[in-house]
Amino acid sequence: MATFTLPKNSKIRSDGKVHKATEGAKRVKKFKIYRYDPDSGKNPSYDTFELDLDDCGPMVLDALLKIKNEVDSTLTFRRSCREGICGSCSMNMNGSNGLACTTAIEDLKGEIRITPLPHMDVIRDLVPDFTHFYAQYASIRPWLQTVSPTPSGKERLQSPEQREKLDGLYECILCACCSTSCPSYWWNSDKFLGPAILLQAYRWLADSRDEMTGERLNELEDPFRLYRCHTIMNCANVCPKGLSPAKAIAETKKMMAERAI
Ligand code: SF4
Ligand code: SF4
Ligand code: FES
Repeated sequence: MATFTLPKNSKIRSDGKVHKATEGAKRVKKFKIYRYDPDSGKNPSYDTFELDLDDCGPMVLDALLKIKNEVDSTLTFRRSCREGICGSCSMNMNGSNGLACTTAIEDLKGEIRITPLPHMDVIRDLVPDFTHFYAQYASIRPWLQTVSPTPSGKERLQSPEQREKLDGLYECILCACCSTSCPSYWWNSDKFLGPAILLQAYRWLADSRDEMTGERLNELEDPFRLYRCHTIMNCANVCPKGLSPAKAIAETKKMMAERAI
């Protein structure tokens, strides 16, 4: 059941800390960053960090690392590859979900407000809890499933045309930017799989080598799991890899309709 007021422990305190720029800084940019420490027993707040852009790398992740290394080592966020491959630095910057490592500071106007991905439980600061998201991913059995024996001495082959059908799908890095910007997922994430997981589900439906298409479609045929998508398109607009989960969802619905004829 959707809740329309913030839970008590989500209300933002107004006494966040302010860290001023170093003396002599010329190109000062303000970063307002969501802080939440469950061990403190306090509600979240925004801390303000002023950075000199002449002394900071160009990406939002560079700013976060600078803050962590030089101003406040308790600032907590995920990151690994710093080049848009691992999907771990997904967060909300000035109201849009994206990857901190591929978002340029100069593309964000004014003061930059950074929060965790929306509508997920927060573990600490900018780290959301992906437990449910990963459980949903596991539920679609994201691996090749076959019943026929493996051809002896060779791989299961695909023609170039069959392989091409996976383009626009295999590139997904499971960052969850799309799912956490989807209103249907906000309100029904307990039952609706959301755009990221549905794109992944279609990636196996579209794979010519997979032999469980019927079973996979059966598992999606449900008023919530697939059909809660109302083609609002936020998912396609926000994907940092330029993918379209909405299109994958439409293709899945088409497969459902075709097998019903
Ligand atoms: S479809 Fe795009 S936004 Fe969604 S999880 Fe995959 S890479 Fe991230
Ligand atoms: S197109 Fe569907 S999955 Fe994508 S944001 Fe809209 S409702 Fe969500
Ligand atoms: S650090 Fe890997 S995607 Fe940003």
